[in-house]
Amino acid sequence: MGERSIGIGLLGCGIVGSGAARHLLREAETVARAVGKPVEIRRVAVRNLAKKRDVDLDQSLYTHDVSEVVAAGDVDLVVECIGGIEPARSAILQAIAAGKPVVTANKELLSTLGAEILRAADDKGVDVYFEAAVAGGIPLMRPLKESLAGETIKRVTGIVNGTTNFILTRMTEGGMSFSEALAEAERLGYAEEDPTADVEGFDAAAKAAIIASVAFRSRVVAGDVYREGISHVTHRDIEFAQRLGYTVKLLAIAEEIDGAVAVRVHPAMLPNAHPLASVRDSFNAVFVEGETVGDLMFYGRGAGSDPTGSAVVGDIVAAARHLVHGGRGLGCTCYFDKRVLPIDEMEAQYYLLLSVQDLPGVLAQVATTFGDHDVSIRSVWQEGYGDQAQLVMVTHRGKEANLQATVDALGSLEVVSKVVSVLRVEGEEE
Ligand SMILES: NC(=O)c1ccc[n+]([C@@H]2O[C@H](COP(=O)([O-])OP(=O)(O)OC[C@H]3O[C@@H](n4cnc5c(N)ncnc54)[C@H](OP(=O)(O)O)[C@@H]3O)[C@@H](O)[C@H]2O)c1
Repeated sequence: MGERSIGIGLLGCGIVGSGAARHLLREAETVARAVGKPVEIRRVAVRNLAKKRDVDLDQSLYTHDVSEVVAAGDVDLVVECIGGIEPARSAILQAIAAGKPVVTANKELLSTLGAEILRAADDKGVDVYFEAAVAGGIPLMRPLKESLAGETIKRVTGIVNGTTNFILTRMTEGGMSFSEALAEAERLGYAEEDPTADVEGFDAAAKAAIIASVAFRSRVVAGDVYREGISHVTHRDIEFAQRLGYTVKLLAIAEEIDGAVAVRVHPAMLPNAHPLASVRDSFNAVFVEGETVGDLMFYGRGAGSDPTGSAVVGDIVAAARHLVHGGRGLGCTCYFDKRVLPIDEMEAQYYLLLSVQDLPGVLAQVATTFGDHDVSIRSVWQEGYGDQAQLVMVTHRGKEANLQATVDALGSLEVVSKVVSVLRVEGEEE
């Protein structure tokens, strides 16, 4: 380590990397005070050396060679903002093997190969921090991991994808269809050219896996997470939700049920009074229910260069302080090996929209089908007449497997022409 300052090797200088670099330059004095030494960007690895960067760094710092940046003698701490699996994984493992702490924003890597990274870091006794990987600028990982280290967390419910929250807000407040709201999100730069990862819930599922691993201290990977996106949510569902006093949100829910961990991402109706119902536009928020601490809420910008850069710099300070003063942050906290509950065994309340024949006795047949599968109906009303007749139903809390069996059975009733929508209702009955 240099005598006078801590040297940063920055891998990637795109949205997150440039945000972190600008923030480090702007807050150099504060960071130096917090760390006990100045912190300096020494090398930057990028793919395209000719690209104009949104940060004022000397051109001589840039290189193509990720591995050379990690290995450089004047680089003490590696900040990985490339994303994806490779070369990020190899670079992080190389840094750890060299005893260099790592700060990363990489949810894809952590939600799939987090165990490999954190095990290597524990073996070597180096820090790996990843605040920016989940909910961007919102402090969540270190509060969950460190501030709540002695807390039993019961459930974490999050709005962790800004693109889908923006789309659902426009559908709710602007009366738009899903595709109109997606087009607006694209026009405003909130949606990527290929929006699949956001609208189909893959991005939220990766974050949910990391949240669950940290909150319940047991490894959950992205493939364990039940996932549904929002592309099937219609404006009509949102209209009925509003009439029922609910707001539709894409939720990431992680909870511990009888010693097992249940993690799911899907659109859900939330009571308007729930704190997450008022989280609008591209904002993120995470609602944590702890056994002793009670309810906590974290709110802010879940993406973007400045918010995410701020989270990265916070992690740099934590890791750099350990280089200067000794010690190490909490390593891997997945101490337990809890079962991951399959979706069939989870429970929820459900909203259903059925197209039905407008005939006497239809409601009785439908109600019997629910009863036969042990799903109890809380409310039902008929919308429209004749060809347009629809039943809007909300159930009491029941098992997912029973609800699925009910939906299958409803589909084969002659009086039900279509099960139009099924959405879960959260935050009401325990
Ligand atoms: N965007 C957000 O708001 C946000 C929020 C939270 C977390 N994250 C996470 O942060 C990470 C980075 O995301 P981002 O949005 O900043 O991505 P980005 O804008 O695409 O930036 C990626 C950077 O990595 C560089 N790069 C890519 N492949 C490389 C290679 N093989 N060798 C060297 N450099 C390479 C790129 O170089 P060029 O510039 O030359 O192409 C670019 O500078 C991802 O893990 C993402 O999930 C992003």
